[in-house]
Amino acid sequence: MCGIIGYAGSGRASQAITDGLKRLEYRGYDSVGIAVLSPKSKLEVRKDKGMVEEVSSALRFTSIGGNIGLGHTRWATHGTVCRANAHPHADCTGSIVLAHNGVIENYAKLRDSLAAKGHKFASDTDSEVVAHLMEENAKTQPLIRAFMRTIGQLEGSYAIVAMSAADKEERLFIARRNSPLIIGAGKGEMLCASDIPAMLKYTRTFVPLQEGDMAILARNGYKIYSADGAEAERKQITVDWDMEMAKKGGYPHFMQKEISDQKHFINESLSSDTADAMKLICASGRIDIIAAGTSYHAGIMLSYLLQSTGRVAQAYIASDYPYIAKPDKKTLVIAISQSGETADVLQALRFAEGCRKIAITNVVGSTVTALADCVVFLNAGPEVGVAATKTFTSQLAVIYKLFYDKERLKPLSGLIGAMLEHDNEIKAVAQKIAGKENAFFIARGRNVPIAYEGSLKFKEITYIHSEAYPGGELKHGTLSLITPGVPVIALAPKDETLPKLLGNIREAKARGAFILSITDDDEVKKESDISIALPPGTDPILYPFALIVPLQLLAYHTSVLRGVNPDRPRNLAKSVTVE
Ligand code: G6P
Repeated sequence: MCGIIGYAGSGRASQAITDGLKRLEYRGYDSVGIAVLSPKSKLEVRKDKGMVEEVSSALRFTSIGGNIGLGHTRWATHGTVCRANAHPHADCTGSIVLAHNGVIENYAKLRDSLAAKGHKFASDTDSEVVAHLMEENAKTQPLIRAFMRTIGQLEGSYAIVAMSAADKEERLFIARRNSPLIIGAGKGEMLCASDIPAMLKYTRTFVPLQEGDMAILARNGYKIYSADGAEAERKQITVDWDMEMAKKGGYPHFMQKEISDQKHFINESLSSDTADAMKLICASGRIDIIAAGTSYHAGIMLSYLLQSTGRVAQAYIASDYPYIAKPDKKTLVIAISQSGETADVLQALRFAEGCRKIAITNVVGSTVTALADCVVFLNAGPEVGVAATKTFTSQLAVIYKLFYDKERLKPLSGLIGAMLEHDNEIKAVAQKIAGKENAFFIARGRNVPIAYEGSLKFKEITYIHSEAYPGGELKHGTLSLITPGVPVIALAPKDETLPKLLGNIREAKARGAFILSITDDDEVKKESDISIALPPGTDPILYPFALIVPLQLLAYHTSVLRGVNPDRPRNLAKSVTVE
């Protein structure tokens, strides 16, 4: 939710910030802005509603000279989407500017007391209050102390980058709590951003800040302070991701590239280190799995696999976990989060204080890694499309690695490759269903989390209403919605679930549904309007990997046909750092 970036160096700040904003846009894309200290020590602020590409070129972001600045791409929380509410925000004099990601919970109180002191506000945002608060504090103390005092007065979540035209040392003042912020330490240039890919063009050395940290960045270095104001050391990490990985590489959308990339990254994920996680699992009693969105579907799969070995395990929607579960000291909590920054997941992990914790994540240095006893990395490379695709398959891969030996999982890359070959067929199916208003996904057993995920992909980027059910549930309500022509997408591999699922397919067909099946069974093919073939002889445990690929492609092509940008579906963001 919202992407922020700062740059202080000897290069052109406006270029580095604009480059970074393009990479951060997946975090929020309703408005965008930049502030740069021009060579005449004047703060130049340009911002508007709209996507990064259109606003940055219309307002000529990169034409601003100067070596220090900050930028922001917004996902609205307080205040409508309009120019005034876009970041950066300034104080009354226009001398202090800042960008903020998160929610300032006590902003109304702060705003009232600042207004009583004569401050005038130009926006409806909670973020602007922070600029005025810093202005107020800077009246009586040096900037660095004023910044620290300001941060100490905030309640809620924030990643903040601030600067002042009056600061002769040309520094960025940054802080984080419950929102990600990472320092990028280049040669003669320092950056900070909400995530690593935004800075990859400039450095591969990063310093993730810890909760409550503040830092000062200048061209030649940085100083970090913990929440109590004491200077602190934080670990530097280097990443081997490169810029190419975060680019579209000739594909029209990141999502299509990321779907294709699955056949390569699956092997990277299978080589991730799961040994410590395995030890914790073997030593544990009950296992609670917490996750959100797509990661929750991977969590359901993990719970099914654990249950099949006789373990007591349950997957929880992270935001509901604190209301439902009563973990004790013997409970092992496994958090699954691609970004490692989802606020709901972090909150649930904090709730499980005292439990042993495993994190499964794609992002080195993310907050979830600091909260867990043991981390399993997906090694899937950066994922940019808002709809998670390759990281879902990677999550399944590391989860499977906990239960099956290497040899059995070896065919996965080839299997995914074979399913990608159906691209043109699926494009043709998309044409048939792009005009529909509803779609239903059905499966049984271990294929059910795949149906959930297929349905989520479909609705989030096509805006067609869709639901997914275990096939047995159809007759308990949903059949009343099956009318002639309604697409029913059946995940029907030849495994133990097939005989009963075939019955469900027939029930839907009898009501005139348009049946699209993914199957390797002739009987199912006969019952279907269209079938996508699963490769003959597929090991039944691997079916979920084969089933998800056509569902991702179906969502993708239907989205494009309906004129939606699948990388940027409305109202959504890739990393949801508010609860
Ligand atoms: C957002 C994204 C989803 C993602 C979910 C959980 O809603 O749009 O694609 O599945 O967050 O994200 P996480 O990073 O915790 O896996």
